[in-house]
Amino acid sequence: MTMIQLVYASRPFGFDESILRGILLNARTCNVRDGITGALICRSDLYLQMLEGPTDKVDAAYTRIERDDRHMQIRRLMRSPITSRIFGDWAMRSDPAHSWMWSREQVEDGAAEKAQDEDVLAVFSRLRQEAPVPTGP
Ligand SMILES: Cc1cc2nc3c(=O)[nH]c(=O)nc-3n(C[C@H](O)[C@H](O)[C@H](O)COP(=O)(O)O)c2cc1C
Repeated sequence: MTMIQLVYASRPFGFDESILRGILLNARTCNVRDGITGALICRSDLYLQMLEGPTDKVDAAYTRIERDDRHMQIRRLMRSPITSRIFGDWAMRSDPAHSWMWSREQVEDGAAEKAQDEDVLAVFSRLRQEAPVPTGP
């Protein structure tokens, strides 16, 4: 079974607790079924999500996600084969904004699009290091 890691960025459309709860419930239900793990960084100006798992399942999830009207301006930043997962313990971890990430101005200026694969991976590796075990939803 081949596995990939896929990262995209998008702009939230309607951003509040209840929308976010709905998205995560949706995501976790599907991901448990599909063997997908990952993390979703959520802030009012940006979603940055990593999906990892079986190639066909991740591609199918991304196709559904692209059609979702709870966000817009969806752009894929990377898609690469992997042999091990970063977020193997999470059906979909959710992370708030971090001060060390891009500022609002940088995001507006296209920081996500300009990031190289290794920059994007560094963001998620850092998240993983800061909270290595699941802490609940
Ligand atoms: C920001 C965001 C993240 C999402 N993450 C996932 C995810 O990790 N896995 C997933 O299956 N669906 C995710 N979804 C939900 C999908 O868009 C979709 O609603 C869900 O897969 C169910 O698909 P269906 O309504 O076609 O059955 C996400 C949606 C948004 C807006």
